[in-house]
Amino acid sequence: MPSAAPPTLELLGPTLGVSTRTWNAACAEAYGTAEGEILIDGFATPAINWRDLRFQADPAFGPDKMELWAKIPVEHDGWVRAHNAIRHELTQFKRALDGLGEQPLCDWQVSAIKAYVTGHLVHIHEHHSNEDKVFNPAIRKRVVYPEKLEADHVQLVQMMDEIERMGKAVIVGEPVSALARLWTEYEAMMLPHLHEEETVGLPLARAYFTPQEIGKIVESFMKDGDPVSMGGFVHVMGSKKVALGFMAEAGIPSFVWHIPGKGFKALRTLYRKKMQSHVDSLLAGHVVSSVRKEKAAAKPSKGATAAAKAGDSENLAPASIGAAALLGSSIHVASVPQQLSSPVKRMDVQVLSAR
Ligand SMILES: [Fe+2]
Ligand SMILES: [Fe+2]
Repeated sequence: MPSAAPPTLELLGPTLGVSTRTWNAACAEAYGTAEGEILIDGFATPAINWRDLRFQADPAFGPDKMELWAKIPVEHDGWVRAHNAIRHELTQFKRALDGLGEQPLCDWQVSAIKAYVTGHLVHIHEHHSNEDKVFNPAIRKRVVYPEKLEADHVQLVQMMDEIERMGKAVIVGEPVSALARLWTEYEAMMLPHLHEEETVGLPLARAYFTPQEIGKIVESFMKDGDPVSMGGFVHVMGSKKVALGFMAEAGIPSFVWHIPGKGFKALRTLYRKKMQSHVDSLLAGHVVSSVRKEKAAAKPSKGATAAAKAGDSENLAPASIGAAALLGSSIHVASVPQQLSSPVKRMDVQVLSAR
């Protein structure tokens, strides 16, 4: 017979991290799952049976709300879009670091790396905090929510602390290769975690909560969110058209796009100044501003052209990590190898130091 209580961090200990073996064994015992049945296993995590009442925490609330989400595809869900912003930073910065290789860094590259690492860590710490302190506790009122998803944060944060230390230690004249290796490990740990949340946590949240209820929970932490991180959320959607579509689905009035200083457009511009310009500069091999489209930039790829046609004319941003969506980066990447040590352009330094 399964025990009444699901596995907890106290039972499993702090070393659980992204390892699934211990977790799955504990789940099998707690939920009475068949031997070998896997609930959470990185990218191999199977679709969860959200109708299974073993995930029901409160008899008053059953898994009967999934159909209310019919008009909001999973890929449009704010949680997935928030993860897209994380994936975007993980993959873009990895490409930038890999491109730098063993070469000694010049001053603007050091500044760009430090600023990007700092901004990314603020973003991810806030994301974890939103999940750990607000979203997950709210979900747990109705759902037996697998603690493994939160346990991953412990190991991820340890790695982020190390990234912070290494980011601060980056200096002119030295290569960034040690940070690049750590970033690769970090990405390999974070990406499956995001997938697990989307495969297990998201369907459970949708089954037990209405879109309006989830909207209220999200609103409670969005109002105090870091503006740059929120700008990344908008930037990664890829275009004004997509952003307005998201706003309509989320019940956010379209005028919010235009609010000076705080609207979606202003936040997106802020992100482009304080984050995207840095990684685009590292990818380009010289300092660039990603706030406006560079008309004289290298000819975009076929996929990027298609993406531009699909979106609006001001689209600079990658729409998540989708292949055709890498418009912004594909513009700059073409000239990477030969220009990695090119000198600073004074005109653009101001943009990079705006943080
Ligand atoms: Fe998480
Ligand atoms: Fe997450």
